[in-house]
Amino acid sequence: MDSLTLRQPDDWHLHLRDGAALQSVLAHTAAQFARAIVMPNLKPPVTTTAQAIAYRERILAARPPGNAFEPLLTLYLTDRTNPAEMAVAKASGMVHGCKLYPAGATTNSDAGVTDIRRIDAVLEAMAAAGLPLLVHGEVTHSDVDVFDREARFIDTVLAPLRARLPQLRIVFEHVTTKAAVDFVRAQAQGVGATITPQHLAMNRNALFQGGIRPHLYCLPVLKRERDRVALLDAVVAGDPRFFLGTDSAPHARSTKENACGCAGIYSAHAALELYAEVFAQAGALQRLEGFASEFGPRFYGLPLNAGTITLQRSEWTVPAAYPFAGETIVPLRAGETLGWRLAPPVT
Ligand code: NCD
Ligand code: ZN
Repeated sequence: MDSLTLRQPDDWHLHLRDGAALQSVLAHTAAQFARAIVMPNLKPPVTTTAQAIAYRERILAARPPGNAFEPLLTLYLTDRTNPAEMAVAKASGMVHGCKLYPAGATTNSDAGVTDIRRIDAVLEAMAAAGLPLLVHGEVTHSDVDVFDREARFIDTVLAPLRARLPQLRIVFEHVTTKAAVDFVRAQAQGVGATITPQHLAMNRNALFQGGIRPHLYCLPVLKRERDRVALLDAVVAGDPRFFLGTDSAPHARSTKENACGCAGIYSAHAALELYAEVFAQAGALQRLEGFASEFGPRFYGLPLNAGTITLQRSEWTVPAAYPFAGETIVPLRAGETLGWRLAPPVT
């Protein structure tokens, strides 16, 4: 198969940032995806519907001319989120979920929730409004090993939440472990999960290949090979609970190549090509369309996109860096060859 035409996909977990950074990265995503669930971890975070609508306007204004990319907004939950905001968010038609960042779990999570029981009333209001909860599924306690944080989150936060509030629909974001795959598969309904290209393609050895690799550091961190294989098995099976979410998380080169480097991998420049490579290697290219273009909109109750995109089997070299807000950013697979390339749109 030398060319693959798919229904146009969406990215169900994306960081676009704001200002000059937004302007630098948006074209990459907008060239591939019709829509994206945009994460709210700005500084300060997007916590109200009014802020989300204003952020949406800034994203629309940053689109390349003629591009119809549609941002789907999310709210950032804090200990002080007002339950009454949930009905407002749903009624706006522009907010499609709320994101739980356990405080301290990742980039810009300082304002996150310190104990999920503090937001019980908010979660009930979300369930009533039909707004899904998007979770960064890691505990943050210093005594829990960083590689065990996702599994511990399932046992101590997610499973009890499901038992308390089964009507609440949940997206377990960027799952990285076999434990997470097993948990999602065991749920009768109402739980989906996004999977990034890096967690499908690499295990944690990649972080230390020939020296420490700051550009491969993201959260949740890469896991063991058996975890990667479990993620791959889930997508190769065509399980509709698992769908595409790049977690493309841009950080300037200087903040990654740093004594305290930021967490986040930039993959928007070649998102589909990166997934296509993984699916092709697994002999499962026929599963890419469901994962990239069908399962996400079905979970979120949104229409499937009408347009198509075409991937061609054609080698190209990823640039060493892209311009980024007056600095540069090092993309995933910088300087390396990819075997698939998105064909230019037919006009
Ligand atoms: C994300 C970011 O930089 O905003 N970083 C990351 O490593 N994935 C935050 C997140 O999704 O955890
Ligand atoms: Zn993210």
